[in-house]
Amino acid sequence: MKKLIAGNWKMNGSLASAMELARAVEASVASEPGLLSRCDFLVCPPFVHVGGVKPVLTHVSLGAQDCSVFTNGAYTGDVSADMLADMGCTHVILGHSERRQHFGETDGAIRQKAEKVWQAGMTALICVGETEAQREEGQEAHIVAEQMKHAIPDGATSRNVVVAYEPVWAIGTGKTATPDDIRTMHAFIKDQLSARFGDQPIRILYGGSVKPSNAGDIFNIPHVHGALIGGASLKSSDFIGIAKEVKELD
Ligand code: 13P
Repeated sequence: MKKLIAGNWKMNGSLASAMELARAVEASVASEPGLLSRCDFLVCPPFVHVGGVKPVLTHVSLGAQDCSVFTNGAYTGDVSADMLADMGCTHVILGHSERRQHFGETDGAIRQKAEKVWQAGMTALICVGETEAQREEGQEAHIVAEQMKHAIPDGATSRNVVVAYEPVWAIGTGKTATPDDIRTMHAFIKDQLSARFGDQPIRILYGGSVKPSNAGDIFNIPHVHGALIGGASLKSSDFIGIAKEVKELD
């Protein structure tokens, strides 16, 4: 399986800087065919930059960071899954911990959004992960199992779902989970997915302070099928540097 190298640009940048970043990522990916033989690439700009960057991306897929639970209509400020598909998006990040924390996003809402993403023909990139307090209480497996049970709709396949394990305490903090933490959790997520959806190769990404210097060790862990990258995805050399740490296919 190729690794998925996904950039979550969060709420950063201007149209000009988004275009520059997208152009730089596209140029690097296009100029090194070896990268594309081992990795798929995805960038997820803010909604307002999605349409701008689309024309410069050929070898890099385009995603969004959220979508509406509704199909269309009088929902001021919302953006539907259909609109994102129409703009050329193939993926939508759902249930990021920042949306859970700051916008009260629930597993139920994430599930509804995932269904809209599927109806629009896209892939839902569903984020799960425990807080530091939950890990200290030894609750991490229980929390992640509950999030997956309630946020992933029935009918998940390797084509319509990617799961991202992002321990909340490792996001933007410079703290990466240890290889043992990641190994244990990814194996657990794999077992949960197999029990519910059968033995299909649903990708499981790791996210949380991934950078070129730690990516090699992370990619060597079984059931790590790529990375969801925040801060380091805002610099093309770091984003591509992470992809270069993928040395072989699983
Ligand atoms: P950082 O890579 O900045 O820790 O962010 C991870 C993340 O939240 C990706 O969705």
